[in-house]
Amino acid sequence: MLTVALPKGRIAQETLEIFETIFGETFAFDDRKLILETPNFKFLLVRNQDVATYVFHQAADIGVVGLDTLEEQGLDVIRLLDLKRGRCKVAIGMRNGETLDLTKPELKVATKMVNITKRYFADRAVAADVIKLYGSIELAPLVGLADMIVDIVETGTTMKQNGLEVVETIMESSTYLIANKNSFFAKKTEILDIYEKINGVINPS
Ligand code: PRP
Repeated sequence: MLTVALPKGRIAQETLEIFETIFGETFAFDDRKLILETPNFKFLLVRNQDVATYVFHQAADIGVVGLDTLEEQGLDVIRLLDLKRGRCKVAIGMRNGETLDLTKPELKVATKMVNITKRYFADRAVAADVIKLYGSIELAPLVGLADMIVDIVETGTTMKQNGLEVVETIMESSTYLIANKNSFFAKKTEILDIYEKINGVINPS
């Protein structure tokens, strides 16, 4: 029996569809239920930001989560497979026409991805003032809270609608199948088996 942490929303849906393709049966959570048990799997529905936490603490053996979230959280889990879904990028956005000048003193950057942001600027030896926000990041440069933002860009519509544009891409992201390190040894056969099956759907030969 493997416990699988899935992030609520589209990614959970897409992952369950992969399981349906593999096993030829229906995998669906009952309304509002957070656990789905089948003979071989126990699926948990959690918040996107909590997937790696469940896996790291071994409350789940495996999980599915965005690379951006993994990089931001830095939890020690095994990255098994790129599922090539949920593609997006983490990018720096500024107001249309503005350019990124890393020599400017005291750059103010608003983001919900504080660790990725701090690492990006530290790697370039730039002293940036990183301001943590929880959402509506695109607002910050419009009202003078920050000079720029670091945020997720999927279609680019949110930035565009708010008069912002990408000036630099920090990383490309997609969803990954991850595993707890202890589970990977204790349940190696089961985990490698599901890994192979998922890989067969993602990367058909
Ligand atoms: C992300 C991000 C942007 C938006 C980008 O927010 O913070 O606001 O999506 O998508 P787009 O390029 O397709 O317009 P998300 O929907 O994850 O919501 P959140 O800010 O509440 O996390």
